Amino acid sequence: MCGIVGHIGPQGSVEIVLEGLKRLEYRGYDSAGVSFVDENNRIQTYKKEGKLQNLVNSLEGKNIKSECSIGHTRWATHGKVNDTNSHPHNHESISLVHNGIIENANDFRSELVSKGYTFKSETDTEVFLALVTVAMDDGLDFREAIATSFKKIRGNSAFVVLNEKTREIIAVKKGAPLVCGMHDKNSQVLVSSDPYALVGLADKIYFPEDEVMCSLSGANQNLLSFTELDGTPSKRFISKVQEMNFDPTDKGDFEHYMLKEIFEQPGLIRALSQYYFSGDGESRLEKISKLNPRHIYLSACGTAAYAGYVIRDYLEKFNRIVTTVELASEFRYRNPIIGKEDLGVFISQSGETADTLAAQGLCKEAGTETVSIVNVEGSTLYRECSENLLIRAGVEVGVASTKAFTQMCLTGRLMSFAMSGDFKNEAKRKEIVDKYNLLAERIDEVLDNEHVIKEIAELTYNKKGYFFTGRNHYYPTALEGALKLKEIAYVHAEGYASGELKHGPIALIDEEMVNIAIVGPDLYEKTVSNIQEIKARKGIIISLGPKGDKELEEMSDYYIPLNYDGLDELMPIYVNVVNQLLAYHMAKFKGTDIDKPRNLAKSVTVE
Ligand code: G6P
Repeated sequence: MCGIVGHIGPQGSVEIVLEGLKRLEYRGYDSAGVSFVDENNRIQTYKKEGKLQNLVNSLEGKNIKSECSIGHTRWATHGKVNDTNSHPHNHESISLVHNGIIENANDFRSELVSKGYTFKSETDTEVFLALVTVAMDDGLDFREAIATSFKKIRGNSAFVVLNEKTREIIAVKKGAPLVCGMHDKNSQVLVSSDPYALVGLADKIYFPEDEVMCSLSGANQNLLSFTELDGTPSKRFISKVQEMNFDPTDKGDFEHYMLKEIFEQPGLIRALSQYYFSGDGESRLEKISKLNPRHIYLSACGTAAYAGYVIRDYLEKFNRIVTTVELASEFRYRNPIIGKEDLGVFISQSGETADTLAAQGLCKEAGTETVSIVNVEGSTLYRECSENLLIRAGVEVGVASTKAFTQMCLTGRLMSFAMSGDFKNEAKRKEIVDKYNLLAERIDEVLDNEHVIKEIAELTYNKKGYFFTGRNHYYPTALEGALKLKEIAYVHAEGYASGELKHGPIALIDEEMVNIAIVGPDLYEKTVSNIQEIKARKGIIISLGPKGDKELEEMSDYYIPLNYDGLDELMPIYVNVVNQLLAYHMAKFKGTDIDKPRNLAKSVTVE
C-alpha cells in the first residue's frame, strides 16, 4: 500500500525516483508526487491525482536538476483522492511521504493548531509533518524532531522525510516495509518501500528493523547511517548484496502484464520442481521435511488464502495432519489455540501484507514454528519466519494475482511432499516432477485455445452476475475464479460450493445470471445435478469439465473441455487457468484497467 522512494546522488535524482515509482505503482495509484531540492536549495513539489503518468506529464519540459528527492504513489486511506491530499506534504523546510496509518492522528490536531500549525490536507500524514515541524520550531534538530514525533504516534507506518536545509533524508518505520540501498561506485543512496525499486540502482541493500532511523546524505558525508530513536548508533538492520534482476517495464508482445503473467505459468512450473529437487531449494525442503506438527495453521489474505485452501487439501490428503486455513485479518483477533507442537504457514506474494505479518507475529510469540510460502526473498515475512519456501514466480506486476497463485499451490504441494517421509525417494520425486511437467503441458494447451475462452467471454461479459461453483477440491478454484472476475471486470461474482447454492443463493438465479461450473472427475454426478438445478431456473451455464463429455456439453450453454488425465491433485490448479483467462477477457470486453483495477493495491500494508 503506497509506494515510497527517496534518493540522494550526483545527478538525475527526480528521474531515478520516478523510475522507482513506476515499479511501485502497483502499491497504489490514486495519486503520485515528488519533492526535490532544486539548484537554489529550495524544495519544489509536484503532485497529481490519478496515475503516475499524470505526474510525469506535468513534469514534461521542466528540465529539473536535483541531487536529492522523494516520491510517492498513493493508495488513499485518510482523505479524498485529490491533488491536495497527495503526498509529499510540505511545511517550511520539510517535505515528507508516508505509507501506513496514524491511528491516533486526531489526538494531536487541535494542539498542533493551537501551536500555530495550519493544516492544508485531510490526511493523517500531515499530522506527523506538523509534529515534526513544531518540534523543530521548539528547538529540536531534524533527527530529534522525527524521533520524538515517531514515538508519539500509533499504527503501522513508514516515513521518508526530506530536509531542504541539510539536503538530508531520514526514514523510519514500524510495521511497514522499508529498505535502503547504496551504490558504491556512483555514491548514491536510496530508500524505498520495496527492494524492487532499487534493482539496478543499488548493489547493496539494507533492511532496517522497526524504529531504526535511516539517515541518507550526499557524497563526502556519511551516505547512509543507522541510529536508534535515542540517537545512538544502531546495528539493527540486515544488509545483503542486491541479487534481484528484472525488467518490469517489459510486457513483451502482450497487451497487459496480467496476460503476460498468465502465459508465464508453464515455464515457471517447470522451473519450480527443478529448483526444489536439483537446485538451491532442496536444502529448504529438507529442513521442512523434519517438521512433524500436531496442527498446521495456514494463514494469508486474498488470493494467497485461496491458495491456502488448495494446500490444506494436500496436507490433509497426503500427510493426514489437521490443517486449517485462517484469514489472517480474522485469525489474529480470535485468540486462537496455538502452541509449540503446531506449525504456522504464512502464504504471501509480497511478504508484506500487514495482517499476514501480524498473524505470523502471533504464532511466533506463542512459540509456534513459522514457515513462509512467499515470492519476495528478503521481504518482512521472509525475514520473520524461521524457514522459507520461495514460490519463484518472478515479479508479478498485474495487481490481480495469477502466476503467484499457481506457484503458491505448487510450492505447498512440495511442502506436503517433503513432510510425507518420501523426500529422499527418487521414484516419488520423479513422479512429482513428471506431474508438474504434465501440468505445464496442459496449461500450454489451454493457452493455445485462449480464443475459445475469449469467444465465451464476449457472449457473457454483460450479464447480471456470476456464480463460480465447484465441489471439494474445486471449491477453492471457484472462490479464486470469482475473486479474479470481480477484481478486474467490476462485476458481482461469487464463489460457492456447488452443494451450497440451493441453501439460499439459488434465489438469485434467472436468465441473466451465469454459472461457471467447475466439474472435475471426482463427485462428478453430484456436481452435474447441481448444474441441472441452475439450468432448471434458466441460469446460463459455462461448464469447465472433462473433455468428450457429451452429456455435459449438451446441458451447458458453453462448454470448455479439459484434459484432466494424470493431473490428479493438480487439477484445481489447471482449471484455475481457464478462470484467469475468462476474467481477463471479460474485463477486456468491459474496457476496465486490467493491470491496475480501481481501488486495489497489490501490496496491502495496512490492516
Ligand atoms: C491484495 C492483492 C491480492 C493479494 C492479497 C494478498 O489484496 O490485491 O491480489 O492476493 O493482497 O497479498 P500477498 O502479497 O500477501 O499475497
